[in-house]
Amino acid sequence: MLPLLRHLIPDLSKNASLYVHRSHRSVPSWGQTCRAISACSRASGLKFRGNNQQYREKTTTSSPVAMSAVFPDSEAVKICWLDGSSAKFHNIWLRDHCQCKQCYNHDTHQKELNILDVPLDIQPVNVAINDQNSLSIKWPDSHETIYDAEWLKKHSYSGGTKPLNHKDELLLWDKKTIESNMPCGFDFTNVLSDDDELFALFQGIIRYGFAFVDNTPTEVGAIEEVATKLGGFVRETHYGKLWEFSNEVLEHADTAYTALYLRGHTDNTYFTNPAALQMLHCIGHEGTGGMNLLVDGFFAAEKLKKDDKDSFDFLSSTTLPFHYKSESLHLKAHGPIIELDPFGGGISRIRFNNYDMETLGGIKYADIPQYYKALRSFTGLTCAPENQFWFKLVPGLLLIMGNWRVLHGRSSFTGKRTMHGCYLNGDDFFGMYRAKAAARSM
Ligand code: OGA
Ligand code: ZN
Ligand code: ZN
Repeated sequence: MLPLLRHLIPDLSKNASLYVHRSHRSVPSWGQTCRAISACSRASGLKFRGNNQQYREKTTTSSPVAMSAVFPDSEAVKICWLDGSSAKFHNIWLRDHCQCKQCYNHDTHQKELNILDVPLDIQPVNVAINDQNSLSIKWPDSHETIYDAEWLKKHSYSGGTKPLNHKDELLLWDKKTIESNMPCGFDFTNVLSDDDELFALFQGIIRYGFAFVDNTPTEVGAIEEVATKLGGFVRETHYGKLWEFSNEVLEHADTAYTALYLRGHTDNTYFTNPAALQMLHCIGHEGTGGMNLLVDGFFAAEKLKKDDKDSFDFLSSTTLPFHYKSESLHLKAHGPIIELDPFGGGISRIRFNNYDMETLGGIKYADIPQYYKALRSFTGLTCAPENQFWFKLVPGLLLIMGNWRVLHGRSSFTGKRTMHGCYLNGDDFFGMYRAKAAARSM
């Protein structure tokens, strides 16, 4: 084992008692990191898959809520439920959301109704509660809409907009937190063959921003098999579909293809829609260094919000330019470093790559000092050792990381280091996750 690794890895085993437990896992035989992580898993009494159970409980505990009264007026219908809650729904909203067979295609889950067929000032001619659990609304053209009491409660909007991302599913981490809550121990064969294992992997990636899959074969096709399970498709880019890259050839205009230190960054900042997931698998390294780095960008952004609110506000409201430039391709995109959920649910995406920043534009002269102060503050948090998780990828240990949240990097290295990798789209990954979660909550 190399001296550098010996220095960096023991942290993992020190926290052994808190590591997640995957009791049925075989002992990995390759690589020190994997052994350290797995040793931690074995030593703990906690089950990672416990989170899966929690999820099921959370999504199935809500019981039907009956209605107690309705109060229609010229603009809206107020509904009161037996549990004491109430909400108002606009008449036009109630007509627009009708889910009868005429207004909604239940085979395609698509709306049929043309909003031009609904007058802005539409009013029901009759509103009645049937058996407390459904609401019947009769419209002037004799059309009838039936609503389920629980459905209406779930979709009530009088309390304001609802966040798009669910903060409760995330565990924001610094070094100490992640080293005692390692999302590791998923097994390649089980992920491919066992739906519970696969679902737990989805949850792990969402909750922690990354996860490891053990026993992954070193053929590049292996990561495609996992990618297919996690989103159906690999995202093809100018780097290709499945990559095998090493420091021996500068195949693309990117520091990743060298042996240089790579500071924490997210990938694809120069795409209008950066890949949501990235997989990395080190299939061979004969040399020193090449440690892998992860930093929770959401944690860093939340800390910035707490410690330096002005900088947080600046970075979440200022659009910055990013680019990728080679002889044949010049990609450009822009966005804030900290992107906020437009419905007030907090931080939704980090776009942070100092390497890919284009010449600044669009920031007012007077705001430049504030920009650099904010950029230094956030960069400082991502570079602080207490926020960084360092480890070493080894053959067999596949890293899957959320590129909208977690920054990755690596230390400089000697010798030849060969990596496999690929990207996945957020629409594919979250789309598959939503469908699986819904099926499990039925
Ligand atoms: C990358 C990258 C890190 C590594 O390819 O985007 O950051 O460990 N690679 O080589
Ligand atoms: Zn209808
Ligand atoms: Zn990268």
